[in-house]
Parts: sequence; C-alpha cells; structure tokens
Amino acid sequence: MVAELSAELIGQVEQAAQLLQSAKRVCILTGAGISAESGIPTFRDKQTGLWENYGVEDLATPEAFTRDPKLVWSWYQWRRQLVADKAPNPAHHALAQWQYHAQTSDQTVTLITQNVDDLHEQAGSSVTHLHGHLWRDRCGQCEIPYPEQSSAAYIKQDTIRFDDKLITCPHCDGYIRPNIVWFGEALPVQAWQAAEEAAANCDVFISIGTSSLVYPAAGLSQLAKQNGAQVIEINPDPTPDTIVDITFAEKAGLILPPLIEAITDL
Ligand code: APR
Repeated sequence: MVAELSAELIGQVEQAAQLLQSAKRVCILTGAGISAESGIPTFRDKQTGLWENYGVEDLATPEAFTRDPKLVWSWYQWRRQLVADKAPNPAHHALAQWQYHAQTSDQTVTLITQNVDDLHEQAGSSVTHLHGHLWRDRCGQCEIPYPEQSSAAYIKQDTIRFDDKLITCPHCDGYIRPNIVWFGEALPVQAWQAAEEAAANCDVFISIGTSSLVYPAAGLSQLAKQNGAQVIEINPDPTPDTIVDITFAEKAGLILPPLIEAITDL
C-alpha cells in the first residue's frame, strides 16, 4: 500500500477491496477526470486560449457543424493535437492490470468510458466507448467511415493530419466530421446496450472521474443501484449523489493503484 495514503484512506481502500474481491461482476464507468492526470483538460474546466469564447453549442452539436463546419472541424483538430502526445496515467494502468488479472479469475470487469481519447486502450484495457472516438472520422451526411478502410482497431494512427482544412466525402460530397457523439445525438446502440447490461447485472458499480451530469451515461449508476449493486465513486469533487455507498474524494491516480493492488493480491 503506498505511503502517501492516510490511515483513514488505507482503511477505506481495504474495505472497498474486500467488497470488490467478492464481487462476481464489476462495472466501471470512467469520465474525463481519469484522463486529467495525463494532462487532458476535463469538460467542466474552462476553455482557454483560442477557444475561450466558444460554448459547447458552438462546437459540439450537429447544428454547430451544419452552421459552421470549419469552426467545429478546427476545434477538433486542435483537441487532437492537444491529446496526441498524452499517455495513460497510473489510474488507466491499474484498471488494465485488473482486467488482465480478471481473465484468469471468475470475475468479470466491464469497463465503459465516456471519454473519446484512447488512453484506456493504450494501457491495455478492453473498453466500450459511449461517446465515440476522437481518432475516427465519418461523413456528416452519409455516415460512411472515413477513410472507408479505416481499421476497427481504435488507436491513434501516426499518419493523422492536424490541419484544419475541411475534407469532403468521396461518396456524397458531405463534410467529414469526427466520429464523436455530440450533444443531442443518440449513443451508439451496441455500446449503450453493453453498458446497460453490465450496469444492470453488476454487483459493484464504480464511477470514476465523471461529473455525472450528462445522460444517459449518468443514469448507469442508478440502474446498477436499482438492481442491487453497491456503488463506489472516485472523484476529488464528488457528485452530490445519495446512491453512492463508498466515496473516495481523491484523484483516481492516487486511489486506483493501491485499490487494484489490494484486490489482485488479497
Ligand atoms: N481523478 C478523478 N476525478 C477527477 C480528477 C482526477 N484526477 N480530476 C477531475 N476529476 C473529476 C472532476 O471533479 C469532475 O467531476 O472529473 C469530473 C470531470 O467531469 P466532466 O468534465 O463533466 O467530464 P465527464 O463527466 O466525463 O463529461 C461527460 O460531457 O461534455 C460531455 O460528451 C462529453 O463525455 C463528456 C460528457
């Protein structure tokens, strides 16, 4: 157990580890907070620099893309540049280690993320993305992936270009957009079904680094709770949510490594 944890936290980690060790099915939902320690700003952080005068309705809605595709595309290209050199942090690695360990145990550890970065994959996790993928594109009109032969593997390609020149679809001439779920858009059906099933059938649900403001993802912990799961939250600024059984008001990178070590070593 790492020395920087207080005696109280060590006790809490041990309590959570015991609960998790006896769980057959665990469902984990991550949000922007898990990537914060890798240097990727969260959504509720104030936009800085070039983009500080723009709101979400100017940059992350289908209406914004129709109104000003160049503005939206430029913002995503800027975000891609910001994220391109970021690496997984100890929280991502700990979750990947747990999933790896679970392969040889009778425990199922399902990881769901709202994040569009690929840091869980880089750490070695198997993860379901609810809000799409920063490194994938598709046509905004006919929805065909761009490039069409792009692989199903979801890891940043070294060949990605960051310039803000709009690209048009070879099939229908529509503008190419990032394959991200914008506000007002439906979640990918298969990903959402997998998330609902994992949440509804888990013994323990862990919410990590999410403000739990954006639905339907924010409803997954409630679904789990209604079906009898215990709920754990890890967030330095915990959500005022009464359904949580164990709250770690700490950074994910501080709690997850000792927690996963305790689970896998017990
Ligand atoms: N460890 C854990 N949690 C952290 C950390 C950290 N090191 N740093 C910040 N947080 C917490 C914050 O306290 C906040 O509650 O992470 C949360 C991030 O919240 P949001 O920025 O709202 O991110 P998220 O919940 O993932 O947003 C949901 O909203 O903008 C849309 O589609 C976008 O997927 C996104 C969705």
